[in-house]
Amino acid sequence: MINCQLAGLLCRQHTSLTETDIEKIEQVAAQLELIADLSEANVFIDCQVKGTNNAIVVAEAAPTSGKTLYHDPYVGTIVYEVFEPSVFFSYRTGKNILFNRAVTQRGKLVKQSVAPIKNDEGQVIGMLIKEEDMPEMKASEKMRPLSSAPEMLWELFFGLSQDRPSVSDIMREYFILIDASHQVVYVNSSARSFVSEVYHILEPEGKMVTDVLPFIAPIMELNQDLVIQEMKIPSHFLEVKKVNIYQDDEITGMLILLRDITDLRMKERELVVKSVAIREIHHRVKNNLQTVASLLRLQIRNGVAEESRGHLTDSLNRVLSIASVYEIILANEQGDDDEVDIVSLSKKVGNMLLQHSEHSDVSIQMNYIGDTILLDSKKAVSIALVVNELIQNSIKHAFINRPSGEITVGFEKRQDDILLSVTDNGVGIKKEMNHSLGLDIVKMLIEHDLAGEYDIQSSQLGTKNIITFPIDQGVV
Ligand SMILES: Nc1ncnc2c1ncn2[C@@H]1O[C@H](COP(=O)(O)OP(=O)(O)OP(=O)(O)O)[C@@H](O)[C@H]1O
Ligand SMILES: [Mg+2]
Repeated sequence: MINCQLAGLLCRQHTSLTETDIEKIEQVAAQLELIADLSEANVFIDCQVKGTNNAIVVAEAAPTSGKTLYHDPYVGTIVYEVFEPSVFFSYRTGKNILFNRAVTQRGKLVKQSVAPIKNDEGQVIGMLIKEEDMPEMKASEKMRPLSSAPEMLWELFFGLSQDRPSVSDIMREYFILIDASHQVVYVNSSARSFVSEVYHILEPEGKMVTDVLPFIAPIMELNQDLVIQEMKIPSHFLEVKKVNIYQDDEITGMLILLRDITDLRMKERELVVKSVAIREIHHRVKNNLQTVASLLRLQIRNGVAEESRGHLTDSLNRVLSIASVYEIILANEQGDDDEVDIVSLSKKVGNMLLQHSEHSDVSIQMNYIGDTILLDSKKAVSIALVVNELIQNSIKHAFINRPSGEITVGFEKRQDDILLSVTDNGVGIKKEMNHSLGLDIVKMLIEHDLAGEYDIQSSQLGTKNIITFPIDQGVV
């Protein structure tokens, strides 16, 4: 059946066009072959289906040269607006649309022109549509903004010119490209050295990736587009990344990126070993100090001259105060190995002194006021000794002929320094103060080890020792 007859038939069946309008459509349909040949394109006539917003293809023609977009007939097909909006736009507005990019109902990207067919009253009764292939446009339009980027990236990455280094050559990561059959197609310089050093393969290209990098086999079996895993091979720790490369929904290859993290893992291990070693040393120091203390205690018990006894006891307490620092470090299970809370430390020293006090007839109340202050062990040892001397002095000298007394150790972290005070409500210092070792040790430690200042104030209300020392990196 020739075009115009079929068009008339379809119009009568499916549209609400009048006979005059149908005649007009038939006239155009009769010229359709000519138009297709002249424009070297597929041409169609669409008319609105009665009672709906859809259209029907009532006539079509392809160029006689045989160059056609479609091999299946379109005639009689219903066309929906969602698929061909420009056709319907032209229908409603009566305007021509020229060279519009369109994706047709059959999923083809085409260059589409639409001209409305009007009756003598100027009403649109159908659409004449021309569709041409646009393969060049398709590729070039898509790529135009990017066209220089792939080239630049390619050059930058793989450096086709021999005399300049490329990114892949200066990368420390091992970069391995494989094709869909898992054959190695490209390795960068660092990957090449790696496989030659570890697996003695000089030319990985063309070999199966599982032969070149045997450890990769389990990763190749994973069906994920991106895999990131850490793997250990003899004498190497590797971070392995696998990325699938797609082209038109098909995996055409994979990129394998390996990063050697052996150094990092070894350093981590070293650190763990070191911190274990440090803890061990702390243990030994603490044990040795406690052994020294035991020896002193033994000596005191074994009977020494009364005047030496006090001195030996002082020394014993000093040794035990230093040991307290290590006890606190060792009690701190997961924390930094070299951090000591000086509040807990002072409590430990204070309790130890009260326990060993020879003045058990006086009931002494100990108070510790302040926030947690962390210091490194070196400073903590100084604090332990200072607190030892000052609490000892209060116990020894402040509550003479008194039934009870109170000692308060205060800590305050200020903007730039730490304030430590040891206060008692005792008798105060006598005018003719004995010169002895205790306060000398205190001054020496504060001035030299802590770079701080020491002041002692005394009245009938008691004695107050004030120590300030700067906060530096040692303080948290
Ligand atoms: N809290 C205090 N209350 C009363 N007097 C004190 C107090 N602290 C110190 N003193 C006086 O200051 C003197 C000097 O103290 P220092 O600690 O230097 O010596 P010590 O306690 O006598 O001997 P050591 O400390 O060497 O065993 C003491 O002998 C004591 O008279
Ligand atoms: Mg003293």
